[in-house]
Amino acid sequence: MTVALIVAAGSGERLGAGGPKALVRLAGRSMLQWSIDALEAVAEIERIVVALPAGVLAPPGVIGVEGGAVRSDSVRRALAQAGAGELVLVHDAARPMLTPELARAVIAALRSDGDAAAAIAAVPVTDTVKRVDTSGTVRETLKRSELWAVQTPQVFRREALERALAVPAHQLAQATDDALLIEREGGRVIVVAASDENLKVTTPLDLKLAELLLSTRARGSSAPLPLKPD
Ligand code: CTP
Ligand code: MG
Repeated sequence: MTVALIVAAGSGERLGAGGPKALVRLAGRSMLQWSIDALEAVAEIERIVVALPAGVLAPPGVIGVEGGAVRSDSVRRALAQAGAGELVLVHDAARPMLTPELARAVIAALRSDGDAAAAIAAVPVTDTVKRVDTSGTVRETLKRSELWAVQTPQVFRREALERALAVPAHQLAQATDDALLIEREGGRVIVVAASDENLKVTTPLDLKLAELLLSTRARGSSAPLPLKPD
């Protein structure tokens, strides 16, 4: 049995929409609702808990909790309300392109690997990535064939995630994802090949792209794009 946590408590500074990012409308629904709908279509997900900004009510069918000051704190607060479940799926509301197929694939990957503590969605990096110091000087070119850009969903064995999150606040604050906290304590994390389409909405450009992709998906993906807005 799997419980799903969606973190949606961020303020969306970089998007600059003037309100919480998760509530921004996207192709007829809130950004958050797209992820809820995808996860509700996954039979083995028993329950969905959403970490929300203070004062925001949970949508129907999910359990709402108030998020924390940093992302991992929101994950920890949602996990505290998750109830029973041996696996925990964590997903960012900022990735509204989530599909039920991807969520199922990440859950299945963890189930089929008894040694792994977590399985995470990721895509091979296509850019060349260099390490640059504070003076702007390139120090190292990383080996691209070994680099993956990680996404959510990330699925964890529950005890592993609970242990990983039980660290001091400053360590939690530095964690841009939860898998990092597992790696740090020596847990094995495996990647599951995902798609670039599972993009993260950070900037207004990302929002436009997600709107375009979701509105064509809603119309049926083979429909041609209109030349003019309808
Ligand atoms: N998040 C959260 N609680 C926080 C911070 C972030 O639940 N205290 C969630 C966001 O809602 C988002 C995900 O973590 O779904 C990834 O964070 P990010 O994309 O950085 O969203 P924001 O923090 O909202 O955006 P920004 O950093 O631009 O303010
Ligand atoms: Mg943020």
